[in-house]
Amino acid sequence: MLSPSHDKRVVREALRDDRMVMTKTSSVDLVTQTDQKVEKLIIQSVKEKFPTHRFIGEESVAAGEACDLTDSPTWIIDPIDGTTNFVHGFPFVAVSIGFSVNKQMEFGVVYSCLEDKMFTARRGKGAFCNGNLLQVSEQEDIRQSIIATEFGSSRDPEAVNNIFSSLRSILCIPVHGVRSAGSAAINMCLVASGCVEAYYEIGIHVWDVAASSLIVSEAGGVLMDVEGGAVDLMSRRIVAANRRTIAERIIKEISSFSPPRDDTPPQQ
Ligand code: IPD
Ligand code: CA
Repeated sequence: MLSPSHDKRVVREALRDDRMVMTKTSSVDLVTQTDQKVEKLIIQSVKEKFPTHRFIGEESVAAGEACDLTDSPTWIIDPIDGTTNFVHGFPFVAVSIGFSVNKQMEFGVVYSCLEDKMFTARRGKGAFCNGNLLQVSEQEDIRQSIIATEFGSSRDPEAVNNIFSSLRSILCIPVHGVRSAGSAAINMCLVASGCVEAYYEIGIHVWDVAASSLIVSEAGGVLMDVEGGAVDLMSRRIVAANRRTIAERIIKEISSFSPPRDDTPPQQ
């Protein structure tokens, strides 16, 4: 049976030994044998207990499995969030597991392997880090905030221009700082922990943020789409913030675009 200490051992040992890096959608979209091994371990151990449940796993989808979120109980798994960090030994690497029923997140677990931090949330029951209650920051002023974002895995000049245009506008608000942990799940947990006021990104996938979306909302935070309105976890766009006013201020500065969805596009 998978356990946090087993996870930690698999990922830490691999950090020294797994140097076989492969690529997926582009030369900067990386995957290792450890990503594949950890996803198999998680799915096998869950299937033993819950044989009828469904799965959406990053590496299974990369191997051709469907990425459709139905009303059935579904485990949404990112075996290593922060694969580029993992490859380079940059110390923010997480295992992310969310569980959804009726398309609603019921619980989420993000294990930051090298920090040895276990973030957990259950719907309606709060969010915790190593058992300690989490609460988002009370900061109301974006000019006294830290904002997290990422640079994505597209090096297409137009996509890069969009990213920098948003970043420039946000920096010049001005904010106290901008940070990138290199893991969407950890960025979201930083919002839930209160040390970062907001995180936004276009290009994430459902497995990067499913578990941590519940951790943010259970810690008192808000989730929105980059153009406002409710977040859609399949749309590959997210703003997570401590307060709605901070989320809305960021949304004003984002040059938005729509990457291909994770699921089948809705029928017109
Ligand atoms: C990536 C990381 C990264 C984010 C990308 C994600 P991966 O996930 O979360 O921080 O910028 O959008 O896809 O590939 O390391 O699982
Ligand atoms: Ca991953």
